[in-house]
Amino acid sequence: MRIGAASAFALAIALAGCGAGQSTLDPQSRPAREIADLWWWMLAAAAFVLIGALVLLFIGWRRRDRPGLPVVGNLGERGFNGLVVLFGMIVPLLALVVVFVAANFSVASVTEAPAPGSTAMTIVITGNQWFWDIHYPGSGAVTANEIHIPVGTRVDAVLRSADVIHSFWVPQLNRKADMVPGHPNRILLYADHPGVYRGQCAEFCGLQHANMATTVIAQPPAQFRAWLANAARPRIAPTGAQQQRGEQVFLSERCASCHTIRGTSARGTIGPDLTHLASRSTLAALTIPNTRHELERWIADPQKIKPGAKMPSVDLSTSERDAVVAYLETLR
Ligand code: CUA
Repeated sequence: MRIGAASAFALAIALAGCGAGQSTLDPQSRPAREIADLWWWMLAAAAFVLIGALVLLFIGWRRRDRPGLPVVGNLGERGFNGLVVLFGMIVPLLALVVVFVAANFSVASVTEAPAPGSTAMTIVITGNQWFWDIHYPGSGAVTANEIHIPVGTRVDAVLRSADVIHSFWVPQLNRKADMVPGHPNRILLYADHPGVYRGQCAEFCGLQHANMATTVIAQPPAQFRAWLANAARPRIAPTGAQQQRGEQVFLSERCASCHTIRGTSARGTIGPDLTHLASRSTLAALTIPNTRHELERWIADPQKIKPGAKMPSVDLSTSERDAVVAYLETLR
């Protein structure tokens, strides 16, 4: 049953990777709904003005060189001019005023940082070139790229940057919010329904900006608590000979100077925390699925998959690489 749920999530993430489920027009929370509603009102106002202008243009075109031709029914020249003023000035002006007022209300309510005490938990999301680091203060849990939250729960997300400006954007859940070095921003993360909501870095941040994606995985509270408890634990020491060798290789090679695996001497903070790597569905900020084959390719030549990424190729023999992959696969 647990495996069933895990595969369902993996499948959902894989589907999210195909571009589905990242739409502002499929809101799954109140702030996202306000943004979508505003968008629809703006579209309606713009469409009304455009259609009016096109109709008048068409009538004017029919009446070119024939000023006597009635406009519509018995509407004469003055009536036509009146319509031009109405659709050329009055209606657009009214539409702009209405949209301006509506936008101000939505912006005020959507941009508000969650009030102290109004949220059930806080998470800290840090943008890095090019992945997301996620800490769950108080629990010790750390993960990367795939953000777990309990469904129907107000989560205060503190947004930081470790290097340049990034922008955190999960369109189905809330607006964009910039991650500015030295200036934490806060945003409400809330999902009405369990699901996997894809997000994307929305501020150009270098070569791999496009491959800086994320997912918010909203889980039923009990499932979330189980995930959190596991994510807070150090790694379980490998028991197989190949996996043990993999850990030794990992710790003695450069891997350990960039990555942390809690429960070992690997304490690097340049790359993502790998303590529970095998519990994630994707690698390299959703660039590739987390399968054995892709993990092998990634370790063998990260620059081929994600040029410019800070991960270098590490000179490992095939058997060393196989051992490291076998080890990483135990990190559930
Ligand atoms: Cu980070 Cu664009």
